[in-house]
Amino acid sequence: MIRLEIKMDQYIIKGGKALAGEISVSWAKNAALGILAAAVMADETVTVENLPDIRDIDILLNAIASVGAVVERIDKHCVRINGGTVNTIIVANDNIRKIRGSYYLLGALLGKYKSAHVLLPGGCDIGSRPIDQHIKGFEALGATVRIQHGMIEAEAVDLVGNHIYLDMASVGATINIMMAAVMAEGQTIIENSAKEPHVVDVANFLNSMGANIKGAGTDVIRIVGVPKLHGSTYSIIPDQIEAGTFMIAAAATKGDVTVRNVIPRHMEALTAKLVELGAEVEEFDDAIRVVATKRLGSTQIKTLPYPGFPTDMQPQMTALLAVCAGTSIITEGIYENRFKYVDELARMGTNIKVEGNNAIVNGVAELTGASVVAPDLRAGAALVIAGLVAEGFTTIEQIRYVERGYECFEKKMRDLGADMEKMDSEDMKAVQKFKLKVG
Ligand code: EPU
Repeated sequence: MIRLEIKMDQYIIKGGKALAGEISVSWAKNAALGILAAAVMADETVTVENLPDIRDIDILLNAIASVGAVVERIDKHCVRINGGTVNTIIVANDNIRKIRGSYYLLGALLGKYKSAHVLLPGGCDIGSRPIDQHIKGFEALGATVRIQHGMIEAEAVDLVGNHIYLDMASVGATINIMMAAVMAEGQTIIENSAKEPHVVDVANFLNSMGANIKGAGTDVIRIVGVPKLHGSTYSIIPDQIEAGTFMIAAAATKGDVTVRNVIPRHMEALTAKLVELGAEVEEFDDAIRVVATKRLGSTQIKTLPYPGFPTDMQPQMTALLAVCAGTSIITEGIYENRFKYVDELARMGTNIKVEGNNAIVNGVAELTGASVVAPDLRAGAALVIAGLVAEGFTTIEQIRYVERGYECFEKKMRDLGADMEKMDSEDMKAVQKFKLKVG
């Protein structure tokens, strides 16, 4: 069984040090979730390498095992899956409600067995997150979709390719419809499809199993149905959001950090903003160095679908702008409720006002450490960045959210010189020991 225990751990950080050195980022969570679900579509063994070792992956792998697929964890970063033994299309595993990527089992099971019943997905509480576009796509392919007793039930006699126009460029709907269409009869065209790197990675993975998908990474994806998919060995791309989080942390602490295992092209929106703020950013083939020697300036940002500025880097960027000179405005263009962490940042002395979808960030010269609570994954990462900047000690509770998406976060920060530990919230001795050690 894969570990799923939840401990009441917290991060404790002594801020004020400039991050320096090199770290290597892990692999993309949001690509991995689609790829692992898609792996059940073959009746042969699929080996997925470069798996991030994070909680969301453990939860999805447990759900995949719960439908009868063989799931063999070779090591932390590699798994073998064989979907030939799947014996049910019902995914009722309670943990699955905690993650968003669970809905990829809908597209995968529907595409393969023409029937899938999956508990409605959860994920970070950052907005209402409807799934109407997924349902519209499944229905266009010939499925009947009902939501009852907390389950989404999709059934089809035959899946037949169709022309689908997405009302918004949804990552989840694009990936789900691709999976439902790969074994459908004839051609499917998804217009206004999402262009995120993880969409391309899932399409490449499906193609490595014998699918015929063209155009992933553009806003028109064409899929010609094939009778079946075969086994494959596939390596996931690096995590763009983790890379960005370290780049922002480097800039916020006035550090000098080289982030390795990066595809610099995926980072362009962030790189451009960091340069605009006054940081030096140097790109290599698979690494990016960020250097900030002075207090950075202000800017305006709107989060948009890729290649725009990612919503998943909005909280971390807000934490940086909170200590920059001048007033910045951040407009959240994807989710209606992604500024909840601003109240937690305020405990550390930030001056941010939220008006609707806009955060008006008045940069302050310094922050002071405080006890804060992570409201969700990326907001938790933003609080870590603020803690690294703040004078004194910061404790961050509810880090189980952060661990959903960041592998060995505290260790990687320590490798860059940060004073940061993970410890049991109740263990006062460990807290004292840390405080004595870092002074
Ligand atoms: N939307 C609809 N209807 C739909 C689908 C989406 O209205 O049927 C709306 C959403 O409410 C949102 C927008 O469209 O306003 C974009 O949503 P999208 O479907 O692209 O998001 P998602 O697939 O639910 C994934 C990531 C998120 C990331 C978003 C945007 C996974 C598992 N999750 O979510 O990742 O924020 O794309 O890039 O891939 C994270 O990693 O912290 C995270 C939240």
